[in-house]
Amino acid sequence: MKQENPSTKFNASFERCINDPFFLDQFYEVFLSSSEEVSLLFKDTDMGTQKAMLMTSLVYMSRANNDEPDLLSTIAEKHNKNNLNIKPYFYSLWLDSLLTTAKAIDPVFDTKTEKLWRETLQPGIDFMVSKYDLV
Ligand code: HEM
Repeated sequence: MKQENPSTKFNASFERCINDPFFLDQFYEVFLSSSEEVSLLFKDTDMGTQKAMLMTSLVYMSRANNDEPDLLSTIAEKHNKNNLNIKPYFYSLWLDSLLTTAKAIDPVFDTKTEKLWRETLQPGIDFMVSKYDLV
């Protein structure tokens, strides 16, 4: 039987999600309700703009393990201690919220797919966190 390439399997799931018009709405619904602190951080945010920016940066995130993590540099700086001050523990809520949403949207999402999402996005998260308290 043909063995599917892991990155092909991730990309297929990622595309099913980002092509679904409800994916980002659902993600922010799950993420904002995951913690009061998170919902407060976004209380004055224009979520239309935010969704558009997340769409682009998710693509950067999905490439952070094989392309240049440089794509994420500006975003990481914006989130660091001196700017938005996004504390490192928020990133696990972010990733869990994204996976809960992907599981709800992608009809063929299984434990293997979940593992691939985590493995693919973790380097981008590690990069963001590594820039948290660099001055
Ligand atoms: C790796 C994960 C993340 C990515 C890729 C990401 C991406 C982005 C991007 C592209 C922006 C817009 C930056 C700009 O205005 O130039 C943004 C803004 C923001 N992000 Fe993140 N983010 C991530 C995680 C988080 C987490 C965990 C939090 C914590 C709650 C967070 C809170 C915010 C806030 C509060 C803003 C500003 C919203 C505003 O303009 O009102 N982000 N993020």
